Amino acid sequence: MSVLENNPALSAEINLVAEAAGYLWQKGWAERNGGNITVNITDNVDSALKDKEPIAGPFPIGSTLPHLKGCWFFCKGTNRRMRDLARRPMENGSIIRITDDCAHYEIVADKPVMPTSELPSHLAVHNYLIAKGSPYKASLHTHPIGLVAMTHNPAFLEKDVLTNILWSMIPETKAFCPRGLGIVPYKLPGSCELAEATIASIDDNYDVVAWEKHGVFAVDTDIMSAFDQIDVLEKASDIYLHARAMGFVPDGMSQAQMQEISTVFKLPK
Ligand code: 13P
Ligand code: ZN
Repeated sequence: MSVLENNPALSAEINLVAEAAGYLWQKGWAERNGGNITVNITDNVDSALKDKEPIAGPFPIGSTLPHLKGCWFFCKGTNRRMRDLARRPMENGSIIRITDDCAHYEIVADKPVMPTSELPSHLAVHNYLIAKGSPYKASLHTHPIGLVAMTHNPAFLEKDVLTNILWSMIPETKAFCPRGLGIVPYKLPGSCELAEATIASIDDNYDVVAWEKHGVFAVDTDIMSAFDQIDVLEKASDIYLHARAMGFVPDGMSQAQMQEISTVFKLPK
């Protein structure tokens, strides 16, 4: 029996993850096992789940994350496909809890599916968000084609060059991704260095961070909001790339037009 059976709130939360995973596959951003999702589900853990004996672990996180004491997460499994997570979330992901030393995790349900190889980045970011008192509960890493392609141009890796190009492609981009796109220079996938650089960029006030030549990492209140922020940025990159494919460099909206968006939508930047 799944731990979701008598827990409608948690069930709804996992269903949303499955829905988002399906979109990632449909978008073409999730080849093979590409991308990963974690959600801080601590608020929806019931007593049945709390009383359950772990089925695997403890396993080391690779660092000590003091703000994760008592926290629970749903995680995509490593080497698992988004398209499979979409149809069978509890067979392609698992629920983990952080042990009291804040340096290990145990798998509690439903199956002993080992969490994503990007767990160091996901958990370090959740630890950071809790420390900051942020309401954000979801983190999403995916491989969107246009945004990754743009990170292959060194000129686009300077601070806020991509942010301004993308915001200027279509007004909604700035309205719905108001903090823009942070840049993390290439780091080994799954490494603690990648986790540290990701936190540094999120701390620089970005909700979405590009991992050079690899993908993007987004945080938000829930998984669908994290997906939406990436989706609007990827739409903007598509428009840019279509213009370039037609043989011209797109004009983009003017600074004055973008400032007007900030004023009308009461945006932070
Ligand atoms: P996982 O299958 O371990 O989640 O890895 C996918 C990925 O995109 C690594 O960056
Ligand atoms: Zn990846």
